[in-house]
Amino acid sequence: MRYRSQQVAYWYFAVAMVLFGLQIVFGLLSAAKYLGPDPLLYILPFDVTKMIHTNLLVVWVLTGFMGATYWMVPDESRTELHSVKLAYVQLGLWVLMGLATVIGYLFRYGTGNKLLEQPLPSKIVIVIVMLMFLYNILMTIRKSGRFTTTEGVLLLGLALAAVLYLPALLEYENYTISIFYRWWTIHLWVEGVWEMIQGGFLAYLLIRLSGADREVMEKWLYVIVGLVFIAGILGTAHHYYWVGVPQYWLPIGGFFSALEPVALVGMAMYAYTAMRRSGLSHPNTLALHWTIGSAVFTLFGAGLLGLAHTWPSVNKWTHGTMVTAMHGHAAFYGAYAMIVMVMISYALPSFTPDRRDTNRTLGYWAFWLQIAGMFGMTLSFATAGIGQVYLERILGLGYLDTQLKIQVHFVMLVATASLFALGVALFIWDFFRYAPRFAVTDEAVGEPRAGSIASGPRMVMP
Ligand code: HEM
Ligand code: HEM
Ligand SMILES: [Fe+2]
Repeated sequence: MRYRSQQVAYWYFAVAMVLFGLQIVFGLLSAAKYLGPDPLLYILPFDVTKMIHTNLLVVWVLTGFMGATYWMVPDESRTELHSVKLAYVQLGLWVLMGLATVIGYLFRYGTGNKLLEQPLPSKIVIVIVMLMFLYNILMTIRKSGRFTTTEGVLLLGLALAAVLYLPALLEYENYTISIFYRWWTIHLWVEGVWEMIQGGFLAYLLIRLSGADREVMEKWLYVIVGLVFIAGILGTAHHYYWVGVPQYWLPIGGFFSALEPVALVGMAMYAYTAMRRSGLSHPNTLALHWTIGSAVFTLFGAGLLGLAHTWPSVNKWTHGTMVTAMHGHAAFYGAYAMIVMVMISYALPSFTPDRRDTNRTLGYWAFWLQIAGMFGMTLSFATAGIGQVYLERILGLGYLDTQLKIQVHFVMLVATASLFALGVALFIWDFFRYAPRFAVTDEAVGEPRAGSIASGPRMVMP
């Protein structure tokens, strides 16, 4: 840690870890309900557990983004944060909002708009928290006068994410209009501005971990962001096929969303070539694993599995089935859950100096169990989804009859999800098992030069 105020990030990460654990509990609860009689039917029905599962996901990932930004911006701008106090007040407010919202859900207090179920008071607090956050970051950069392209892309992503939340504050009587604008937030987040956030973190890490030349890495970052926008904005229309809007959205959605994976191929190549050039010799090999893993899993979950059902003639069969859940899990995990874990793996040794460089066994188990578990979950959702499409949509069986026939896939889901959950538990345990000690070190301030890994910054002071 080079700046004292970077310790703020630790507490954001800690909160993110707790919420991640809770998200998984509610995921397992939701999955268990597919297996048979539900003893909790009247206390915690499926719609509530799923809503808490997905909302906790969004909240912990955003907490991770904020923590990672509070880590990265002092590093990039070479200065302390503008206000540490403001960052803690922001975290407190955010946690209170999150808890109150989840408790509200238990009493069915929500708007029912998928992924944006937060009631209006929570939404207003979310906007206030985002404004506090952006203000703090902008003032930090202003103070330092040093502003890199990498952090520019990250900040633009964060600011646009806040702006795109605004349509979610409005409510519409008409269902079609409501759905139409819902995607301005959800789609343009995950297939637009959040990819900028991911790209910003990825570029930062690649520069730090691989010693790749900053200028080259930042040039490619521009290309990737450009590709995201060319395809991502009009790609929104792949959610407009069956919602009651004019037919011309069908070819527009199909064509532009099918182009979206190009940016993701670019991102994976970007990460891979940068790492290959460095010979994978950075001491934090665990962070290297997470970085490459995230880029590759994004390509698989978002690129390949998104493409698999984005064409209207396919989506007409698969829309809203387990095929969607297949893609939703693999994409969200690869892109956003993993990028947060990448940043944590990179920063954690600085917060917990007792952690030894050589002892990363637990970290590797956490990584591989999660990868294997999520891959298995993806296959379980996929096989369930294909069966569901055939039985329900092609043969015309009823929903519940179909569910009975595809139950074996949910057994597989729970089994693979248990492996995944074990990986998450190990990651969380590994995070908390060393108490934090926030010592500022005078380590090499500059980034490693291309090809000279030995002179790059090490993360742990022995
Ligand atoms: C990191 C990027 C991505 C994430 C996190 C993500 C996540 C999701 C999620 C959570 C859903 C379900 C949304 C809902 O029904 O409320 C969804 C739907 C969908 N995604 Fe993605 N996605 C990503 C990228 C992509 C890409 C690149 C494509 C196309 C190439 C794509 C194609 C689709 C389609 C067609 C649907 C609608 C499924 C349906 O009709 O039920 N996604 N995505
Ligand atoms: C133990 C692990 C997990 C289990 C058992 C699990 C299970 C489930 C289940 C059963 C659903 C409801 C699907 C439906 O609508 O019928 C769901 C929804 C969802 N989960 Fe998970 N989940 C887990 C972990 C995760 C993780 C790690 C992520 C993302 C990083 C995630 C993201 C989502 C999303 C985005 C949805 C909404 C998908 C949609 O509506 O199409 N889940 N999950
Ligand atoms: Fe989309």
